[in-house]
Parts: sequence; C-alpha cells; structure tokens
Amino acid sequence: VTGERITITGARPLRGRLRLPGEKGISHRAVVVGAVARGDTRVRGLAPGDDVTRTSTAMVDLGVGIVVDGEATVISGSGFDGLRAPDGPIDCGNSGTTMRVLAGLLAGRPFSSRLTGDASLATRPMRRVVEPLRALGAHIDGADGGDRAPLDIRGTRLVGRRVELPVASGQVKTAMVLAGLQADGTTEIVEPRPSRDHTERMLVALGAPISRVSDRELRVERGEVDAFDLSVPGDPSSAAYFVVGALVTPGSELVLEGVALNQGRLGFVDALRAMGGAIDVVPRGEQLGEPVGDITVRSSRLQATTVVCQEAFIDEVPALAVAAAFAEGATEFCDAAELRVKESDRVVTTIGMLGALGIEADPRPDGLVVHGGAPRGGTVTSHGDHRIALAAAIAANGIAGTSIIEGWEAIAVSYPRFTEDLAIVTEPA
Ligand code: S3P
Repeated sequence: VTGERITITGARPLRGRLRLPGEKGISHRAVVVGAVARGDTRVRGLAPGDDVTRTSTAMVDLGVGIVVDGEATVISGSGFDGLRAPDGPIDCGNSGTTMRVLAGLLAGRPFSSRLTGDASLATRPMRRVVEPLRALGAHIDGADGGDRAPLDIRGTRLVGRRVELPVASGQVKTAMVLAGLQADGTTEIVEPRPSRDHTERMLVALGAPISRVSDRELRVERGEVDAFDLSVPGDPSSAAYFVVGALVTPGSELVLEGVALNQGRLGFVDALRAMGGAIDVVPRGEQLGEPVGDITVRSSRLQATTVVCQEAFIDEVPALAVAAAFAEGATEFCDAAELRVKESDRVVTTIGMLGALGIEADPRPDGLVVHGGAPRGGTVTSHGDHRIALAAAIAANGIAGTSIIEGWEAIAVSYPRFTEDLAIVTEPA
C-alpha cells in the first residue's frame, strides 16, 4: 500500500513565527486524568492527532462525557468509580501510549475490558507493562504470554507494592501510577533510568497523593483529584522537525512559540547545539508544573557528533538523523535500542529514508551511524510511521530538488496539519 503521497520541492528557508500543536503525551494524560477527576476539566490546545483521539474515544467508551467547546475540550469525570464497562473492545489504533496507559487504568476497575490496536501496535512489546501491573495483583492476558495485544483485562482490587520496572518508560510508569492511585496501600515505582515525567508533574500540581522520591522513584497512595484547567503547551517532538528544518536550510530564522520546555524533552536541543546549531530557548511561564516558552533557531553549519539517546529524545531521532545527513562527518546515535520497537523499527526505516535521499547510514544494534553529505531529492516511504514521514518532509524542504513521500497519511497520528504549518513558515505573506 502506498497510500497518500506528497511532493516537496526545496530548498525553502523557514522564517517567521509558528505555534505548534499541543504536546501529545501531556494531552493523553490530561484526557485520562480528567476522565477520573471529579468535575468538568477544560483542556485547551489538546493534541489534534489520531493517537490522542484514540484516548478520548476510549474514555467515551468507558462512559465519560467529552465535548468540544470552542478551543477547549471539556471532560466530565466523576472519579475512578465514574467509569463503566465498555460495550466492546477498545481500539487503541496506532497508539502505544493509549494501550499501555489504559492497561494500568483498567486493571483496577471492577469490570472486564479488551484493548486492541492496528498491525503496528500488535507487534509492540506489552510485557513491560503487563508484568509490573501483575505485581500489583492485576489480571491481564495477551497474545504471546501477555507480551502482545490484544490485551484482556479482568479488573480487580489492586494492592500497592514496591515494583521495579523492567525498562525506563513514561508509558509504563504512567500505567503504574494510575494503578497505584486505585490500589490499597502504597505503590512504589522504581525505574532503571529516569523516563519522561509529565504524569508526576501534572498529578503533583493537582495535589494527588504522589511524591517523587528521586528522579527514578515515585510513591503513590490511593486517591483522586479534582477537575482542572489546562492549556497544553506546544509539542517539542513536533518542534524538532522545524528546528532541524531551519538549521539545515540556509536563510532560515524561526521562532517556535509556547513550546513545552520540560528539560527531559529538550535533549534534542542539546544534541543539535553540540553539532553547532544556533538555538535559543526562552522560558515564559508554566502550565500544571510544565515550563513553557519559545525556541528560536537560525540556519547553521552542522558538524557530526556522538549522540547518546537514552529515553530523553528517542522520538526525535528521525529528525536528528536528518540534521546529521546535512552535517559534516559521521554522526553516531547510540544507546537507542528502543528505536527498534517504536511505531516501526526506526533503525531500519530511518536508514531507508536517508538512503532514498542519497545519504548513507549504517545500522548498529543500539542505533545508527549517519554519514553526512549532500542529500538529494528522492522517493521516501513512511512505512506507516508518522515520524519517518515528518522527518523526510523536513529534509525534502531543505534539499534543492524535488522529493516524494509515500505513505504520507501516517502523519495523522501526531501532526495532521503539518503541511499547513510548513506553508506558514515557508510562504510568508
Ligand atoms: C511516551 C513515552 C515514550 C515516547 C512515546 C510517548 C509517553 O515512550 O517514546 O512516544 O507519552 O509517556 P516510553 O514509554 O518507551 O518511554
């Protein structure tokens, strides 16, 4: 299936100011936390893509009222007990966050439920969330001994315990927090390394019974929160495409406004600065414990470097690989084995994308090496992965020549209005 295809002709500098779509992870969390809060939660700027829509639809399937009121989404929760059994399976689509987070939420509800997903999600590892939830007493079955969707959950009363997570994962940690808020006693969640912390920031700001023991350990007691108002800041992962695009396209100068500046999400900025990128970050405020501000970027000559990815910016590797493609020398991405179990095997699909644009890259068990040079126009396939399609588009915009991206429809999961946003900064009025 080639699906939709777009043609992009560059090079077009990126100039002016842009407001990005709402951060995806915070949006998922706002919908789920709002659904089990007491009262009407108002969220402005919810992430527009299919992934977050899956989470919203799931909450509706569980009996929660969600309506759109102008720019706000109003979520009417009545605590954990307000959720009711869904009429059928809950379809998580392409969204790993929806499936893993809901596993934790539903494990503690007094009814049964089934979580399904698309072909990509059905191949992604679930044992990482199923096993720690089982340690709290959850009854969850799945294909491959519980490692694959569909997941069948027989809700039960959970018991708090100290649980060491097998991997550092923002999704798994969030599932455990939602389970811990429903469990008797204290749940202690220990990660091998820190993962993204949007859940604890939000819940601490809302006064939930949760505390951070260290950057890789949380304590959670049984409890609920009241409804809240939130303006979701711009998504740093979406910002990454434009930051890279402006760096590699001569004549660019771009301001990205109102971006989430959570330090755990800005690893890509540090990596690009290490390559010589001219990037300024200016904090301007806060939303429910999340710093928010502007990112300014100017086109720069980039040099290769070694990028140690870990969890900090694994989602930004396809975009960073584009920066590496335009840089002088060989850039190595290491400590990024998780790339292999994302929406596609992103070691393989990132190398495929670069190869189609005339750039050589070699796979490594835990990452890849990109041999920078002079990318040229070509035909890229997304392999159904939104981040590959978006990274390819920003590369194509920086290349003097014409490129085609096949499977463009994949962008709908995180950034449906990308083409319009690219036009705003490449065709200033
Ligand atoms: C996410 C955490 C990360 C990230 C994913 C979203 C989240 O995955 O790659 O896109 O919302 O918590 P992990 O759960 O593997 O950390």
